[in-house]
Parts: sequence; C-alpha cells; structure tokens
Amino acid sequence: MARLEVSGVEVRFGGVAALRGVDITVDGGGVSGLIGPAGAGKTTTFNVITGLQKAHGGRILLDGNAIGHLPPHRRARLGIARTFQRLEVFGSLTVRENILVAAEIRRRWTRDGSNPRRVADDVVRQVGLRDVARERCDALPTGMARLVEVGRALATRPSILLLDEPSSGLDEAETDALGALLTRLAGDGMGILLVEHDIELVMSVCRTIHVLALGQILAVGTPAQIRSDPTVRAAYLGTESESDARATAGALA
Ligand SMILES: Nc1ncnc2c1ncn2[C@@H]1O[C@H](COP(=O)(O)OP(=O)(O)O)[C@@H](O)[C@H]1O
Ligand SMILES: [Mg+2]
Repeated sequence: MARLEVSGVEVRFGGVAALRGVDITVDGGGVSGLIGPAGAGKTTTFNVITGLQKAHGGRILLDGNAIGHLPPHRRARLGIARTFQRLEVFGSLTVRENILVAAEIRRRWTRDGSNPRRVADDVVRQVGLRDVARERCDALPTGMARLVEVGRALATRPSILLLDEPSSGLDEAETDALGALLTRLAGDGMGILLVEHDIELVMSVCRTIHVLALGQILAVGTPAQIRSDPTVRAAYLGTESESDARATAGALA
C-alpha cells in the first residue's frame, strides 16, 4: 500500500479546469518528483493534498485511509507537512526558534513526551544550519531561509513531506546538500514529493517522476524514462518563455 495516493483528483477555478483526473503515488524508500511547466497545477496539487484547496472529484488516501474530507490541521496531525513556493517563515524569529515552534506544536498534538529543544537542535543540524541557528530569519539569504522552512516541516516528524520548489535561492553546494538530505530521509521511510524546476536536482534524487501538464499527468517513470520521453520535452517547449523552455528541454535531453 502506498503511503500517499492521489487518484482522479479534479479541481476547477470557475470554468477553468486546473487539475483533470490527477493520479500520484508517493512511497517511502525513494523521493518522488512532480515536474511540469509553470501553471501545470503542481502547487494546486499540494493545496489539495494538504486541504487548502477543495477538490471537485477524486480521492486522497494516506496509508490507505481517505483524508480528503479532513481540514488542513487534521491532515497535518496525521503526518503531512509541506513547504511553500512563496517562502513562509517568521522573519523576526531566529532559525532555531522557527524550528522550535514546530517541535513544540507537535509535542502538544502527540503528548509523546519528546523534548522540543532537543528535536529543534537535531533538526537544525540535519538541515545544516548550525552556524546560523541564532540568526534572525529576515537577516538570512533566501536559500537558507528555505532550509529553515524544510527544517520546520521536519520538526513535526512527518510521514509525508511535500516540497514546493525548495531549491530556489540555494547555491550549488546547498542544493547538493538538500538533495542528499532528501535521499537520506526517503531512505529512512519518509514519503517525499518534490516539486522542483531544477531538473538536474530532480533527475539526481528522484526514484519516480510524475510529469504534469495542463492539469493532467502526462508521464510517470524513472528519471531515465522521463528523460527519453519525447512528449515530456514537447510539453515544456511552447508553454514557458523561450529561454526557460530551452534550458529545461536541454536538461532533459
Ligand atoms: N486560487 C486560484 N484561482 C484561480 N486560478 C488559480 C488559482 N490557483 C491557481 N490557479 C490557476 O490554476 C493553474 C495551475 O496553477 P498552479 O497550481 O499554481 O501551477 P504550478 O504550481 O504548476 O505553476 C494556473 O492556470 C493558475 O493560474
Ligand atoms: Mg507552483
């Protein structure tokens, strides 16, 4: 049984169909990717999974149980965590404080006796931010603030982690470290769905890649299968700005 199963999901904005029968499966063991041109419906898919956007059809199963009727906070408690495409951190709090807030909220949900301070310290180390742990987030470069958001999600000890373009603003070394972290987490059993425009990162860390275009899943496969799929390259060409599309299609070639 898949950890997370999205099946036949439909979303409409007025008369516009944003998602049309979307199927996605996420398992532990390896990172799953979700790629597609701008406007394809990736963020909308995350919003449907987390409950921020109502679906007009389809089902969402977590470990085999339907969760599509639950409000966002209930889904979070069941183990779904996410980061946002537009960065969401508390700027006036330090790196460690941002992560500590999440660890404290989790302890209140679970009453599992975990020590939030210890969890926060572990997570700060895990995301590689020990040197800046006491810096305010609004003083950090965007890339590091993104890692804080990843850390805050991890501090809730999720079983499913949804990442919406986490590498924007990261330099090459930070991107490599993020890739290694995701691979490690998935290896430990976490279900990870990665939305990312850095195709090289997606190709290097994902075990399975879903390609979304105009609200429909166009292809699912291994990185090698997706790279050699001509319909995937065609989906990118002609939908983004010429130079972006060429860069992406080049990376796929
Ligand atoms: N709240 C909304 N109201 C109306 N249209 C929306 C809304 N959110 C997204 N859309 C539209 O749905 C489509 C998918 O958007 P989105 O999920 O943000 O794509 P992606 O994340 O793949 O770039 C786009 O055409 C976008 O304009
Ligand atoms: Mg998006």
